[in-house]
Amino acid sequence: MLKLIVKNGYLVDPSQNLEGKFDILIENGVVKEIDKNILVPEAEIIDADGLIVSPGFVDVHVHLRDPGQTYKEDIESGSRCAVAGGFTTIVCMPNTNPPVDSPSVVKYILGKAEKLGICRVLPAGAITKGRKGKELADLYALKEAGCVAFTDDGSPVMDNSLMRRAMEIAVELDTVILDHCEDDKLAYGAVNEGEISALLGLSERDPSAEDIQIARDGILAHYTGARVHIQHLTTSFGVELIKYFKDKGVKITCEVNPNHLTFTEKEVLRSGANARVNPPLRKEEDRRKLLEAVREGFIDCFATDHAPHAPFEKELVEFASPGIIGLQTALPMALNLYREGVISLKRLVEMFTMNPARILGLPYGTLKVGSPADITIFDVNKEWVLNEETNLSKSRNTPLWGKVLKGKVIYTIKEGRVVYKDN
Ligand code: DOR
Repeated sequence: MLKLIVKNGYLVDPSQNLEGKFDILIENGVVKEIDKNILVPEAEIIDADGLIVSPGFVDVHVHLRDPGQTYKEDIESGSRCAVAGGFTTIVCMPNTNPPVDSPSVVKYILGKAEKLGICRVLPAGAITKGRKGKELADLYALKEAGCVAFTDDGSPVMDNSLMRRAMEIAVELDTVILDHCEDDKLAYGAVNEGEISALLGLSERDPSAEDIQIARDGILAHYTGARVHIQHLTTSFGVELIKYFKDKGVKITCEVNPNHLTFTEKEVLRSGANARVNPPLRKEEDRRKLLEAVREGFIDCFATDHAPHAPFEKELVEFASPGIIGLQTALPMALNLYREGVISLKRLVEMFTMNPARILGLPYGTLKVGSPADITIFDVNKEWVLNEETNLSKSRNTPLWGKVLKGKVIYTIKEGRVVYKDN
């Protein structure tokens, strides 16, 4: 029987309200015991002295580009990035080529990820065929094949009746609709509507484009009883809308990308196309409102929206493919919020673990006895630089390229097996 003890670490597991110095005994990939000073002579030991030990992180929003655009990323490179960032479970988005709108693509992704055995990769199926917004995909067959959620991410679902029907089916299937909220007639451009778009003469994405879709989704979730999750929230009014629907008891949740908590539209002046993302980086007042909502607990989880693109696709802001890589940088970015006193360590861990797992309705993000031993062990203060040596993505599109980051994953364990170790 394989036995492993994670010893002397500072455990933070919000799912069982546990915080303090504990050892964790793992047997056959499952958490067997949590206690002070566990002694099992035949067990292997990982010494986590001075480190934080948490349930393995869960990311509900990742682009792996596989199948179809594997020059940007593939399931293997994306999985390696994920575990280096502390994520043991990731949900991959359906905007691949072909898109995840048929059981065969779902089976391809699951098969490849399982064979690699690095990270748990769970596909989100497309809501509409080809992600074209015209006709529903066969959500029943996609769920049966293994999809854990549905979204047309990258694009909104503009047709209200289609979205309503998708939500009705999601209720039947006991699954969640994830939505990229941006009205595509209002959000057609490259950067946030404001000073920077005016200064650089760039086409715009209006924040109202996001707010309108959030309101639409909240209303439809109210009438259908569906679970709806708002992807990459960026606007201050969007925060207000989500609070309103939550107060009303609508089953609405939301995520924030650490980039939107860190940067504003001004980052485009420094980083050019590497700061181009949809929805775009917004104004300081939006960023502050998002930070306040994270602190107050209205924002449920962090999500990286890891969106790799090749350098040639990032040459000019106006024409650049939108997106920023984020699996390896999410933890240090979130730790900045902890160090600045915006959030506690417990809240940080909750937003990376228990909350995203609950949104998906999956039994991860916890170290309760009997759970899969998915564990992230990190150093709050270790400094490192994201560069050619440390980056595990095939892409490098991030404003953080070459920057010193503080906070590093030291071990990632999936089902009792070390899948990443810092060297
Ligand atoms: O910036 C983005 N990039 N936003 C999305 O919604 C899609 C993503 C991508 O696929 O590159």
